[in-house]
Amino acid sequence: MGIQRLVEPTAPEPEQAGTFEEAQVELTLRPQTFDDYIGQDRMKRNLRLAIDAAKKRGEPIDHVLLYGPPGLGKTTMAGVIANEMGTGLRVTSGPAIERAGDLASILTNLQDGDVLFIDEIHRLSRAVEEVLYSAMEDFKLDIVIGKGPAARSVRLDLPKFTVIGATTRTGSLAAPLRDRFGHLFHLEFYKIHDIERIIQRSAKILNTKIADEAANALATRSRQTPRIANRLLKRVRDYADVNGDGIIDKTITNNALKLLEIDDLGLDPADRRMLRAMWDNYKDHPVGLNTIAAITGDEASTIEDFYEPYLLQIGFIERTPRGRIVTPRAVEHLRQHQDH
Ligand code: ADE
Repeated sequence: MGIQRLVEPTAPEPEQAGTFEEAQVELTLRPQTFDDYIGQDRMKRNLRLAIDAAKKRGEPIDHVLLYGPPGLGKTTMAGVIANEMGTGLRVTSGPAIERAGDLASILTNLQDGDVLFIDEIHRLSRAVEEVLYSAMEDFKLDIVIGKGPAARSVRLDLPKFTVIGATTRTGSLAAPLRDRFGHLFHLEFYKIHDIERIIQRSAKILNTKIADEAANALATRSRQTPRIANRLLKRVRDYADVNGDGIIDKTITNNALKLLEIDDLGLDPADRRMLRAMWDNYKDHPVGLNTIAAITGDEASTIEDFYEPYLLQIGFIERTPRGRIVTPRAVEHLRQHQDH
């Protein structure tokens, strides 16, 4: 079974948006094996065991659900699993599978053992979800051919495959679908030390020299997220190539991040704008997600998936049943970082 990489376009996420070249670089930075994948140790230990057992029995592994904020390595982990299993990988996403027929054509084109990665699985329609979970359950596909009185139902055998679903929210996944996953893992924000190792590894792949203290400075401002760390590393490398001799030291790092208006906690102008809007309009009273979205002009889902998780993690926002509250720590931070 050869590795097939059929990548279907998905709507770009704010943090993923970039040029084709950037997307290519991001692919080369992705680890291919558990040994190269830094952090998420509990998930790695459990998946290694599942893969060893499945290989011993000559079967695919159980379906895997990965959930957690964007940029923490869900897609990367799907690639690692397929690679470690020695199987093919088919990549798609919830919004890309519009009708049950789209899913049927994907499923019938899989080979035995293949991994089907479905990003943003919470965005599948209910009709598609139903076809998917019965296919996951017994590797059979029920399809209706024809219309009206001539319609008849046929049952197709599918290859034995593994679904790896990725979602930023488990809450919005229907229970019958969620229950078909044998493995559920929550991806955690990374330790600063692990982000530092990821930066060092990426710098090596990009053929760029980076001083230890520069890697540390970059790591502390990467929101504990590998995707952001790699993106900032590339921006700092640009700065070092233009304004220095290409070597990334601490001064170059600080100057480049200043230009990007990224503060000492890794917050960018959009994060600060949202916090300031909440504070200016509501002070320490709770405010609903849709109200925040209306004030900032962002989609509520963008706030929930992209801005909020890290702000919750560092204690700048609290979630209460009556809405979100800006904490005194955030207010003090805003006072020290006035944007103009
Ligand atoms: N690049 C992105 N995520 C990574 C990870 N977890 N380990 C190593 N390199 C990465």
